[in-house]
Amino acid sequence: MIGDVLKSGIEPCFTLKNAALFNCDCLELLSRIGENRVDMIFADPPYMLSNNGFTCQNGGMVPVNKGSWDKSRGFEEDAKFHDQWISACRRALKPEGVIWISGTYHSIYQCGYLLQKNNFHILNDIAWFKPNAPPNLSCRFFTASHETVLWARKDRTAKHVFNYEAMKNGSFPEDALKKENTQMRSVWSIPVHKKGREGSLRHPTQKPVDLLRRIIRASTNEGALILDPFNGSGTTAAAALLEGGRYYIGAEFEKKYCELTAKRLSQMTGFV
Ligand SMILES: C[S@@+](CC[C@H](N)C(=O)[O-])C[C@H]1O[C@@H](n2cnc3c(N)ncnc32)[C@H](O)[C@@H]1O
Repeated sequence: MIGDVLKSGIEPCFTLKNAALFNCDCLELLSRIGENRVDMIFADPPYMLSNNGFTCQNGGMVPVNKGSWDKSRGFEEDAKFHDQWISACRRALKPEGVIWISGTYHSIYQCGYLLQKNNFHILNDIAWFKPNAPPNLSCRFFTASHETVLWARKDRTAKHVFNYEAMKNGSFPEDALKKENTQMRSVWSIPVHKKGREGSLRHPTQKPVDLLRRIIRASTNEGALILDPFNGSGTTAAAALLEGGRYYIGAEFEKKYCELTAKRLSQMTGFV
């Protein structure tokens, strides 16, 4: 299946079951995928917030810098970058295919604008509340404790997958804001990275696997092809494997994060 959607000349650096990771720029990978092939994309792009600020970790003050890939290159250049990968994702998606994009105010407004500019139809803006977010050190602002996850469909009129009953009846993952047998709302309470459950290996901006499992469970069925242009430590791949029956393709341009993904996925158990 994965081989069918990719043009020749690109080899994965790691494969496990139905998942393949490519150590390359996402634009390179996306250009090798035929048009209208992908069912769902989850993108956790650089938030462009590594500009020498500080945050709190384990009670201490640590620099917020995640890596050179996360530095802002100015408003216009950042927007150009987001426009390029969003339009490349659009080409690869099926008409009924959907994209999820996570971000904070540093990036999410640009991404939302560019989704609309690229003719996506926005379905929801999820507020992902982090009950265990670190405190604010300066005591001059509210403590940042949420991210926004935009959900949009490629085609204005096509019918996307939404597993309404699974979201209404299922309590997975545990969510203090969700009562049993009520509609799933657009505010999700999911803690950041629970130690032990997701392997000991970490990426500086690793998403909780529970967040990705809910996204995949809500918006894909078995047989779906899922793509993550900013693989990082492979959280989307881990969630796709845990949900089962899905196919995964990811791009990551830092070799060390490809290696981290390979170790993390090989260490994780419970794939069905
Ligand atoms: C925000 S992190 C993603 C973290 C991931 N969601 C996780 O849970 O581990 C973004 C990742 O994208 C990679 N990246 C940035 N720009 C890229 C590009 N143009 N192509 C491929 N990877 C890129 C970075 O090296 C970084 O690992």
